[in-house]
Amino acid sequence: MTKEEAKRLFLLWIDHDHRWLSVPVVVAALMVMLVMVKSCQGIVYSHSKECKIYRLGYPIDQARTLAAILTDEQADSLIARQEHDTIAIPIVNERYFIAANFDRYLAFHKRDTSSLRLADIIAIVNTGRDRRQPEQPCDTSKGTLMLINGRHYLDEHYQPDNLAPFTKTYCYEDQRAYPAAADAFIKMQQDCKQHTGAHLMVNSAYRSYQDQKGTYKRNDKRYVATPGYSEHQTGLAIDATSLQHPEKWSFGKSEEGIWMRENCHRYGFILRYPEKQSRIMGYSYEPWHLRYVGTDVATRIHDEGITFDEYYAYYIDAKEPHAKPPSR
Ligand code: DAL
Ligand code: ZN
Repeated sequence: MTKEEAKRLFLLWIDHDHRWLSVPVVVAALMVMLVMVKSCQGIVYSHSKECKIYRLGYPIDQARTLAAILTDEQADSLIARQEHDTIAIPIVNERYFIAANFDRYLAFHKRDTSSLRLADIIAIVNTGRDRRQPEQPCDTSKGTLMLINGRHYLDEHYQPDNLAPFTKTYCYEDQRAYPAAADAFIKMQQDCKQHTGAHLMVNSAYRSYQDQKGTYKRNDKRYVATPGYSEHQTGLAIDATSLQHPEKWSFGKSEEGIWMRENCHRYGFILRYPEKQSRIMGYSYEPWHLRYVGTDVATRIHDEGITFDEYYAYYIDAKEPHAKPPSR
């Protein structure tokens, strides 16, 4: 239809029976309906999570973000606080934020007096270190990825099969380890020599439950696990120093100690107890304690800058989808 034809039709229509009189009526009716729809929308919005959060004093974009991320229950608990918590948005923007833990992050942040970094608070909560939890047996079916810490223990009689002995080139006295860990250590030792000129040595690798009892008695408890709670009982842990720096702390600061820390993931090891993470792991920094997890996992842990406890919580023990942080 051309423009002219349309115009003619319209004129015909408004002339016929004076229908043009009804135009303002229709327009008015439409406007009333529009106002009614808008009012209904307003009422619905005023009951929404977003609006309630906004009324606490959050800027609208933040209220929108929180409403989108939090479940009704979590939003209700935020709303019940009756205050604008400035930490809420930084929390949800954290890389390892898990919505299901939201309330616990807020609660831990409130009661923490040690001015931990927000990322540490997130990690502490995600690994369950913000509350008392019953101890449980280590799930040894996870193999090289089993988790042993102050809350996950091994049976007194647990003993790994087929441990591989190190030759005297690598240790001061007889030491054995999980075969893949022993091979990886030897490879790393050779490369370390090439890069730093220093000779890595195994101070202690596999320790039976009984051995750990002796170690526990003789040493500072900040650095030794109670028998049954040590990774050394699995054969996956190796304490290393060097011929040049046999003392553990000076080894940590030496060129080879730093090289080992920065490169051990290439061989499948992680530094299991890194600096400033004792709240997550329950042990102080140990620049000598390696844990074998295989190169893929070690590289991921290294690249993400997380502890093994966090890795385990996110990628191994994440039974529920909400136990996983969103991938970013
Ligand atoms: N040094 C670590 C914590 C152990 O004894 O297993
Ligand atoms: Zn150790």
